[in-house]
Amino acid sequence: MIKVGLIGCGFMGGMHAACYAALEELGVKVVAVADVRPEFAQKLANGAEIYATGMELIEKADVDTVDICLPTHLHTAHAVAAMKAGKNVFVEKPVCFNDDEMDLLLKTEKETGAKVQVGQVVRLFNEYAWLKKVVDSGEYGKVVHGEFRRLSNLPTWAWENWLHQPEKSGGVAVDMHVHDVDYVRYIMGEPDTVKAHAYRDADGVIQQINATYGYGKDVCIALEAGWNYPADFPFTADWRVMFEKATVVLSGGVVTVYPVEGGSFNPEIAAEFEGTNDIGGNVSSLGGYYNELKYFVEGLQGKNDMSIAPISDAIESVKLAKREIEAAGGLIVK
Ligand SMILES: NC(=O)c1ccc[n+]([C@@H]2O[C@H](COP(=O)([O-])OP(=O)(O)OC[C@H]3O[C@@H](n4cnc5c(N)ncnc54)[C@H](O)[C@@H]3O)[C@@H](O)[C@H]2O)c1
Repeated sequence: MIKVGLIGCGFMGGMHAACYAALEELGVKVVAVADVRPEFAQKLANGAEIYATGMELIEKADVDTVDICLPTHLHTAHAVAAMKAGKNVFVEKPVCFNDDEMDLLLKTEKETGAKVQVGQVVRLFNEYAWLKKVVDSGEYGKVVHGEFRRLSNLPTWAWENWLHQPEKSGGVAVDMHVHDVDYVRYIMGEPDTVKAHAYRDADGVIQQINATYGYGKDVCIALEAGWNYPADFPFTADWRVMFEKATVVLSGGVVTVYPVEGGSFNPEIAAEFEGTNDIGGNVSSLGGYYNELKYFVEGLQGKNDMSIAPISDAIESVKLAKREIEAAGGLIVK
């Protein structure tokens, strides 16, 4: 039995707790939870031991694995402490924000031999996993152009409003946009050129970012993220990719293939797990979260090589998101 200590029982902690409950028959259980807000820890405990802080859990709880769903600026200290205490670690994205944290994470992972995965969940959403296979197989030829979008209304749930303090979260250009930045790196590799523009609020904080990545002399991928949409605006995550022989589109959760010669169709993309978690926030489908934690648990059990979302890759994705921020003029511009 893999014994998990869940640190941070806010929005993402709730998603992870629901996924571990669904995965129990694989041999995994949340046996300890920690949150500085006791009522949040209590809500997710379901019989697990409760700790007042993440560090206390790492020090005292009888767990072999720690799952970190803390605000981003607290990831590194907790991940490093957990690895040094001999635990395996799952840590939410973005793995970290500051450059000095990147080396420390990599060094500690190497020194301790801990098994670590980062919550780059988009890599494990069924439609995105399908697109990765289509790109790798070359069945529609090479990618000619692509566009990836992620739009949301303002996230309001965060503890002490940490999400809207860009030095803690990286703001929308890292926190939300890193999903697509990481995914585009995953399927296309590191871009040769990066251009970006930002729309900022009155305090100079980025609320929307539009970027283009250049590959070679004529392939362009456009990426867009914004979290300042009106209250009723539906959460939107979609893409359109033109290949030499077909264009593929994800829109409204449905994938359509448009072959050059006509005859469009919806490919069968089987979801391994369907489930929702009505805990508020801008994502409710458990599918990708279930997939990523199942992959992590099976990795710990030696059933896969845990190569989908390693720390090293997650760090490169944060670096690329920061390249965009730099290209757009900086994190905060008054
Ligand atoms: N993969 C995704 O789709 C996705 C979506 C949302 C958030 N996230 C990521 O998940 C992480 C958490 O975000 P969230 O939205 O759940 O934030 P949140 O504010 O809802 O939850 C964070 C929780 O941590 C608790 N906390 C703070 N300091 C603590 C400490 N020292 N010890 C124990 N608990 C402490 C807070 O009380 C809060 O309950 C972030 O890195 C965020 O970027 C990922």
